[in-house]
Parts: sequence; structure tokens; C-alpha cells
Amino acid sequence: MTAPGGAHLLAISDLHVGYAENHEIVEALRPETDGDWLIVAGDVAERFADITWALRTLKQQFDTVIWLPGNHELWTHPSDPVQLRGEERYRRLVEEVRALGVITPEDPYPLWEGPRGPVAVVPMFLLYDYTWRAGTPGATTKEAALAQSQDLGVVCTDEHFLHPDPLPGLDDWCRARVAATELRLEALDPELPTVLANHWPLHPEPTEILRYPSFALWCGTEQTEQWHTRFRATEVVYGHLHIPRTIWRDGVRFTEVSLGYPREWGSRQKPPEGPRRILAGPAGTAG
Ligand SMILES: [Fe+2]
Ligand SMILES: [Fe+2]
Repeated sequence: MTAPGGAHLLAISDLHVGYAENHEIVEALRPETDGDWLIVAGDVAERFADITWALRTLKQQFDTVIWLPGNHELWTHPSDPVQLRGEERYRRLVEEVRALGVITPEDPYPLWEGPRGPVAVVPMFLLYDYTWRAGTPGATTKEAALAQSQDLGVVCTDEHFLHPDPLPGLDDWCRARVAATELRLEALDPELPTVLANHWPLHPEPTEILRYPSFALWCGTEQTEQWHTRFRATEVVYGHLHIPRTIWRDGVRFTEVSLGYPREWGSRQKPPEGPRRILAGPAGTAG
């Protein structure tokens, strides 16, 4: 799979197309050049029909589309006729998304050979394991942290709709996903740089500015905090927090590429950003 010389590697997340305003935005998204690739980093929607609509629409516009799930795709929401749970839901999503010609975390990692390539583009599905406990000081276990957050009035909706079946806990599912992904990353050419894309941030730093700090429990895992250096990332792409920004760690750019809810982007001064350019270099210009 190759991209022509002037093409861009682009990324966006948290499209939440169940909202009419976001549905319109997705319908209007266009590549900058014919060869552009687009990473869609989770939270497309909750219902299968909305998820496949969005990815089909994007695949009609972009040369290559790479998707990975967020928590919302994996919710078993009462409004979705598809009532599958957990791993079974994920596997069915992968099947349906693949049928659209879209790359999933279960496919071989595509090689970007456009500007600043070659680089392996790695879509991941890693979840979280309640180990980011800075917002629940003194809590040394998952149970204590969850109880403390509940006392503070902060409980992620995942606790109602996101099921880990057949495993007992979301943290078990997270550990299994991390272990399987780690093996695949270790098997890559050790000279090859990567773009690591995951719905949840790989490092807790982006969660330090959360309005409700204990929400970090539902945002990632301490198991991935060094992955950006260990697996040669030139860039890390994430979403979930709905706080679009760029930070640098160890010379690696971490970019939050979310669109977010209409009430969020509608309250900002600038119109919502479209897909962000990845591998764009320190000045934010295309490489
Ligand atoms: Fe989201
Ligand atoms: Fe999310």
C-alpha cells in the first residue's frame, strides 16, 4: 500500500455522528489530495448503522481509511438493534468495518510511504484498567478508586453500557489487549518508526487537565506509558478526552484529534477542526 508524493496522513476522532451537526460535518469531510489517508480514532457512534454509515462515507472520499474503536462503539446501547456485548461486539464490528474496505486493529499494520515515511501506522484497541489514580489520591486498588470517584459524583457511562464479556472486568480485557498488541509491536522491524493510534491516550499527561480528575480512571493504562519510546513512535494519536491539543514527550508528538460533541465545539471561538495532519513536523506544516 503506497501513498503518492504529496499525500497526507490525517487523523480525526470522536465524530459522534449520532448528533445531526456532526453527521453533517462528516458528510462534508474531504481529503486535501487524492492520496490522503485518514485515521479514525474511535467514538464514531454507538449504533452499528451509524458507525458503518460514517466509515462508508469516509471511505468514498479518502484513499485509505484506518479505524479503531472507542468506548462508544463498544457500548451495548438500548437504542441499537445490535445487542452484542464485549468481545463479540468488537469482532462483529471488525467484520463489518473490514467489509467496507476499512483497515481495523486486527489487520496487518499498513505502511505509510508518503512524506516522512516509511512508517508503520498502528491502529490499536487497548481500553483502560483503572490504574491512572492521580485523581483518587490514596486509592491503591481499582475498587477503592472507583468507590472514591463515585463519592465525588464522577462515574463514566461505560460502567452501564460497556461490557467486558466473556472476561470478568474491563481491566482484564485491557490487559489481554495490551499483551496481544505488545507481541505484534515487538514483531515489527526494529528499524521502522511507527504512528501509534489508540482511542485512549497512551500516557496520563493529557488527563492532568481534566475538569474531573478522577475521570482519568476510564482513560488509559499505566502499561503503555513508555510505548512511545519503546516502539519508536514519531507520533501518538488519541482522542476520548475531547480536549484537542498537542503535547510533546521525549521528542514525540502526542496529538488529540477529537471533533467532540456539538455543545463542546460550538462553544469554542473557532469552527471545529477537520482532520489533523500527522507527521507534520514541529511547526505543524506538512512534511
Ligand atoms: Fe468521545
Ligand atoms: Fe471515548
